[in-house]
Amino acid sequence: MKGIESNKGEESVMLSSPRIAKRPAPPGPNLWQTVRYGIQMVRGRDVNEIFGEMHRKFGRISKIGRYVLIVGRDECRNVLTASIDEIQRSPLAEKGVETLGGLDGKKHTHHRMIVMQAFRHERFEEYIPRMERLIKERILKWNGPVRLMEQLRELTLDIMIETMVGIVPGSDEHARFLSHYWPITHRGKKSSIPCSHYQKAMKSKRAMWWILKKKHAERPDEPTALNIMFRASQASKQGPLTEDELISYAYMLTEFGESDVAALTTYALFEMLSSPQWLNSFEQELAQFSGSSVDLKMLNRLSFIQHSISEAERLHPPVPFIARQAMVDMTFKGFRIKKGSKFICSIEQTHLLEELFDNATVFDPNRFARSGDEHKAPFSLLGFGGGSHSCVAKQYSQLLSVLIVFLLGETFAMSDCYLVPGTAQEKGAKIDLSSIEVDFRLRVQ
Ligand code: HEM
Repeated sequence: MKGIESNKGEESVMLSSPRIAKRPAPPGPNLWQTVRYGIQMVRGRDVNEIFGEMHRKFGRISKIGRYVLIVGRDECRNVLTASIDEIQRSPLAEKGVETLGGLDGKKHTHHRMIVMQAFRHERFEEYIPRMERLIKERILKWNGPVRLMEQLRELTLDIMIETMVGIVPGSDEHARFLSHYWPITHRGKKSSIPCSHYQKAMKSKRAMWWILKKKHAERPDEPTALNIMFRASQASKQGPLTEDELISYAYMLTEFGESDVAALTTYALFEMLSSPQWLNSFEQELAQFSGSSVDLKMLNRLSFIQHSISEAERLHPPVPFIARQAMVDMTFKGFRIKKGSKFICSIEQTHLLEELFDNATVFDPNRFARSGDEHKAPFSLLGFGGGSHSCVAKQYSQLLSVLIVFLLGETFAMSDCYLVPGTAQEKGAKIDLSSIEVDFRLRVQ
């Protein structure tokens, strides 16, 4: 069995062996401190803030209860690329069709190849006109103060629903979709009580299944992720997925990441609007490209906007950590880790390491324009994960975010738009996304 210290073949040893038993457990808070953290979390303190404190106090590998906090490029890489005999995704609590989130190994690779067909570059050309139409329709109504995150969530959800499953906002079908979508996403804890949120969600899940099945049956040739996956499944050399699996994937793609794209875009805009320097660079790029027809080639040339999105991913990662589970007793970077321990790879803390990024706490999109390899080394920028489970929709999400920012800039006079004073409140060490309000002013043509 391979070890994970280097991912290059060092032997892993069971805890019963004297070699592992002699290794120390990772350092971490004592019982009193652990209880204090527990109380703070119950009172609403952000868990990522606690991770930050642990990193500062105990170093890159620390432990609290059965959670092992991991910070660092190599450290995260070791966890995310370890053999599945040793480290895996935690199994999902909920029963039902197994999807990427809870799979590992060969089955995961097979499913992932089919899902990935919906995120090939040539597909983006088909999604872009739909994205553009939906963004323009919505933002034209925004003249005046807007709660950015809330509005962008509604927008990104509509875009996911249309591009992933072909349901057009404003239609009866869309209203039906949403009436089941929200109960499913807010299902809460598992419960067998008939009127509980969970049981209502399970009923909605069944209704959703029929909506999506009908959608595919009626318009199988429409370029949506749903139909693309059905076709890719039929063509797969490893055999097709079941109808249940494909429909679950279609639904999952509308749910996964919708709020993450909104968060990424909100942070990028917030940072640009907070700095005359970045606002000026944004305006310069807009002056160059405004009025161009929107396609993949043009969007790929918007380097300042792209770098701002990457910098928002670095400084404000919408997914702040990734969890994995130790499948065996093992050593990790010299520490003893027990089977069943949960690895928590902190994306947020890793992105703040000065050895990876100069002036790491400062928002600086130009770091992605510089020729050095600051951001280029694999696993330095982890906002979309890394290894076999990395985000299937990374390019899709970046593209969508760039397109939203570009169209906002084209529609509104950015240097006249401003963050409404008193909004963008701090919550712990972070900006509370939901509090950010922007006053948008239409461009005078
Ligand atoms: C800014 C937006 C997004 C961010 C920051 C993000 C981040 C991530 C991260 C960190 C992972 C890795 C999780 C892990 O290793 O356990 C992941 C996986 C995944 N993401 Fe995203 N994501 C975003 C948007 C999306 C969107 C829009 C979709 C769907 C359309 C999506 C679908 C998925 C799927 C299916 C996986 C699981 C892949 C697998 O296990 O093989 N994500 N995402």
